[in-house]
Amino acid sequence: MADMFAPMIEQLKANPKTIVFTEGPDPRILEAAAKLLEEKVLKVILVGNVEAVKAAGAAGNFEVSGAEIIDPATYEGMDEMVQTMVELRKGKMSAEDCAAALAKGNYFGTMLVKMGKADCLLGGATYSTADTVRPALQLIKTRKGAHLVSSCFILDRDFGEEGLKRIAMGDCAINIDYPDTVDKATGEVKLSGAQKLAEVAIETARTAAIFGIDPKVAVLSFSTKGSGKGATVALSHDATLIAQEMAPEMAIDGELQFDAAVAPEVAAVKCKGSKVAGQANTFVFPSIEAGNIGYKIAQRLGGYAAYGPILQGLNAPINDLSRGCNADEVYKMALITACQG
Ligand SMILES: CC(C)(COP(=O)(O)OP(=O)(O)OC[C@H]1O[C@@H](n2cnc3c(N)ncnc32)[C@H](O)[C@@H]1OP(=O)(O)O)[C@@H](O)C(=O)NCCC(=O)NCCS
Repeated sequence: MADMFAPMIEQLKANPKTIVFTEGPDPRILEAAAKLLEEKVLKVILVGNVEAVKAAGAAGNFEVSGAEIIDPATYEGMDEMVQTMVELRKGKMSAEDCAAALAKGNYFGTMLVKMGKADCLLGGATYSTADTVRPALQLIKTRKGAHLVSSCFILDRDFGEEGLKRIAMGDCAINIDYPDTVDKATGEVKLSGAQKLAEVAIETARTAAIFGIDPKVAVLSFSTKGSGKGATVALSHDATLIAQEMAPEMAIDGELQFDAAVAPEVAAVKCKGSKVAGQANTFVFPSIEAGNIGYKIAQRLGGYAAYGPILQGLNAPINDLSRGCNADEVYKMALITACQG
């Protein structure tokens, strides 16, 4: 499996996109932006006070003169933006609420994407995941056919002679759990938790495929094929059946324990005949708790590099950085984000 970034760079050079960074003056953002501009991979919008962004660029010796710097405080199109946001929020936010939100880079940058000034957005170097993702959920909304936004991480590790191993894990960052969505008036279940998890499984497989993984999807649990009991076992079990029905062409199996998913000798005992067990490379967790802990174990103890969270199901590519990120991670996430569009 080859370096996943080289083909992305070629793709973007042939079809340049504009990315907005919501935290313009951050040195890690500026270092990554300078590299993207120097390589002519992306057009860059930096949100922030113009003098502050320029001063931070000069302090770090980052050449970002090719970037457009936009300060919400002096943005000429602000009245139109506030008006558009009020309409999008459909009575949930007043003009004053929208104006206050748009003074901040996260909402302002998201509206630049919504209004077509940029193709994609990367934020979260200083904002929390929730503060980066919420504007996208409220304003960009889910893609047609999708019921929810979720996320996945792509992880890879070079095993030397054994080659590069790349895997996908979802949802480790957005959906905390999977309750049924119930109509308050009638009590009718509009979307079950299992339907939601099934959608996460399919979206994660699709994202995995973008990164060169031939997805073999394990819907994980503490139980393998009924060995344990409980609500979360039923969730993974039912989600597997729904996902198999939604995407019969995909290799999806569950509910599986992690060892049955990855170890052929365990799969042979616990789950013989599965097209996934023992060889899974795309992992779907029954809660954010399991997923977030799981990917960090792979990263910190397993030596895998982790890229993400990569948001799935949104109407435009918007991604979130970890606040502990470095400039190289910003650069790589910018490539990933732009290639999702
Ligand atoms: C993503 C997250 C911030 C959303 O929480 P929230 O803003 O409190 O969500 P709300 O229920 O208030 O919903 C806000 C809007 O987003 C929408 N929304 C919320 N979750 C959604 C989802 N998964 N998919 C699509 N839309 C969603 C709601 O419908 C609502 O839209 P509306 O205002 O137009 O009605 C929340 O799920 C969260 O905190 N997740 C964990 C983030 C985290 O800490 N990750 C770990 C670190 S990586």
